[in-house]
Amino acid sequence: MDNKIISLRSPHLILAGIGASERLGQEAKGIGARKALVVTDKGVINSGIGKRIKDLLEKEGIGVEIFDEVISDPDIKNVETCIEMGKKGKYDLLVGVGGGSPMDIAAITSVMVANPGSVREYFGINLVKNPGIPTILIPTTAGTGAEVTQNAVLTDTEEKMKKAIISPHLLARVAIIDPLLTLSMPPSVTSFTGMDALTHAVESYTSNNATVLTDLFAKEAMILIGRSLRTAVAQGNQLEARYDMSLGSLYAGISLANAGVAAVHALAYPLGGLFNIPHGIANGLLLPYVMEFNVLGNLPKFAQIAQFLGEKVDQMTLLDQAYCAAKAVKAIYRDLKIPQSLTELNIPENVIPTMAQAAINVTRLLANNPRTMTLPDAGQIYKKAL
Ligand SMILES: NC(=O)c1ccc[n+]([C@@H]2O[C@H](COP(=O)([O-])OP(=O)(O)OC[C@H]3O[C@@H](n4cnc5c(N)ncnc54)[C@H](O)[C@@H]3O)[C@@H](O)[C@H]2O)c1
Ligand SMILES: [Fe+2]
Repeated sequence: MDNKIISLRSPHLILAGIGASERLGQEAKGIGARKALVVTDKGVINSGIGKRIKDLLEKEGIGVEIFDEVISDPDIKNVETCIEMGKKGKYDLLVGVGGGSPMDIAAITSVMVANPGSVREYFGINLVKNPGIPTILIPTTAGTGAEVTQNAVLTDTEEKMKKAIISPHLLARVAIIDPLLTLSMPPSVTSFTGMDALTHAVESYTSNNATVLTDLFAKEAMILIGRSLRTAVAQGNQLEARYDMSLGSLYAGISLANAGVAAVHALAYPLGGLFNIPHGIANGLLLPYVMEFNVLGNLPKFAQIAQFLGEKVDQMTLLDQAYCAAKAVKAIYRDLKIPQSLTELNIPENVIPTMAQAAINVTRLLANNPRTMTLPDAGQIYKKAL
């Protein structure tokens, strides 16, 4: 028995499965849309997905304009350009198509069209007053889960830090998850976005705010990602692996949206803010080291994670089982197409104190961590990842 109250926040509708994106036009029409802004990036356009999305909307008689200027791990300036277009165009639907970057920009644009002031005023929890234009969010990576969360993340280039806007008004009206849209992801993007999803599952499963409900999603996410991430990277056209990864990312996103993430994300934020390291790389690199640190905070759950990731742990002590979870994650990471250390990313040892201080300031996330993390602890973890 668990004495926590279960709560579940999610989009009004989640459509997931092979070919689910074919339903876009119908859903857009159901919302009453007549003029849509598709928010995406050049990579998604070059993969042909942008045109497919445009065609699906136009087939239903919906006018379409495209903003394809989203940059990876976007900053405030980037979203402001999109908001300007959003305000001028009088759209009644925003469709965010791509990885977490375009989906977050679409969600923020949606609310900023209906709320005064600048984006900066809304960093934090529940500061957005008015609901925005309805959004349909469609991931083309299997990683962030941004299609089902009430979070949107931006890089604050002045403070050199990633910051989040958190509000129920950021939730999509409809989330459409179609594994077919992830087939064109190159191995490197598959690797780091997949590690982001695995991080969401592990961190939300062991979060102090996890409930029996979020555990269902996190557990299944770890099983799916554990068995299919390597294959999705090595054989990008293997639809079964892509299917597992898309559902794994979705489930991890639902779990993260309701249980929160913790120290891995807090420690990853300075890597993004100071060195522009993509979110998934920063998370994936730090995940096994933070797990090694966190193991003592929840031995039974870490022991279960080892099992979800396919480790044979029957003959081991509970402590060894729990440490085995971190070993399993490290082994997955080693098999991926992804930088393997901070040194490989050209991050020098002498910035560790600055990064550790910045990470410790992310109290919103550290409050979820199963083991209290101090400034020296954070520094030690970065050192291990050098
Ligand atoms: N809102 C949330 O809850 C949440 C959660 C985690 C991360 N994030 C944020 O999401 C952002 C990262 O998103 P991401 O990791 O998905 O990467 P991304 O959106 O930046 O995309 C990475 C690259 O992959 C390319 N790409 C995407 N899909 C493709 C496809 N199908 N085929 C070919 N190329 C493709 C893009 O063009 C881009 O160059 C960060 O800003 C991060 O902070 C948000
Ligand atoms: Fe993340």
